[in-house]
Amino acid sequence: MYPSETDGTHIPVDAIPPEILADALAPLTPFVTDLFIPHYQSCEVGRWRLQVVPLLLSPGYWNPARLTRNTAILSRREVGQDYRTWMSMTPMEIESQEIGVRAATGHTVVMGMGMGWAAVNAALKPEVTRVTVVELDPDVIEMNRLIGLFDQLSADIVAKIDVVNADAMEYRSGTPADMLMTDIWLPINGDERMEQSRVMARNTDARQVYVWGQELAIARRARVLGLELTDVTVARIVAEFDLSLVGPERPDYPGLIARAAEKWLRDV
Ligand SMILES: C[S@@+](CC[C@H](N)C(=O)[O-])C[C@H]1O[C@@H](n2cnc3c(N)ncnc32)[C@H](O)[C@@H]1O
Repeated sequence: MYPSETDGTHIPVDAIPPEILADALAPLTPFVTDLFIPHYQSCEVGRWRLQVVPLLLSPGYWNPARLTRNTAILSRREVGQDYRTWMSMTPMEIESQEIGVRAATGHTVVMGMGMGWAAVNAALKPEVTRVTVVELDPDVIEMNRLIGLFDQLSADIVAKIDVVNADAMEYRSGTPADMLMTDIWLPINGDERMEQSRVMARNTDARQVYVWGQELAIARRARVLGLELTDVTVARIVAEFDLSLVGPERPDYPGLIARAAEKWLRDV
């Protein structure tokens, strides 16, 4: 039986408070970003597989779930396991790199190519003069060549990008990095990334750093110390990490950390 207007199961839309209605409709809202989303095609190179999924509903890093169309997903067949996702054009992956991409300037070093999204978006910024992308696995570099990632960019943007096949932990930059983005891990939780990022920052003489998942590392540390997330406690934890992290300059940063932690924080 369909609920009728008289049996009490219908609530007229105009009787629903606007904030509750907005939350209820959020999952049906398409994901929108002003950042560049390249065109990807399905392919396989070595253990890596790129797939394009017609319609996805996926959570953000700090925002509610959104719909995305023709979403590319990069996964790798792990030894003795099935495929695991390393990167995708989902709201979570984009929001969790966005602060770094927007802060990119001068010589930007991106550790981990993946789908090349962070590197390409950094290169598209007029403030960025050069992008060095350091990638360990030649198959990832080949996959991005095969799908024509850089063919989607104008020649002046492509000219800014150097792809280097090297281990991010060993790579030393000839010229200091004005911005360093570190993203070489599969899970978003894990505190070893802060120590590893310190090594990468030292080796590239980095002036500013954005670590993928840094918000969760900050939230985990706050929890261990029994601290609420405020500007002061975030600054204290960032100082402990001994990295010039971008993010804390934002007035909404403690709130963003709390929202990301609510969705994604796991014990490590
Ligand atoms: C999550 S993906 C990076 C996604 C990328 N930020 C983007 O926007 O598409 C991680 C990448 O780091 C690479 N990687 C893992 N360990 C590495 C290492 N030690 N040195 C360099 N690259 C590494 C992986 O092969 C993979 O391509």
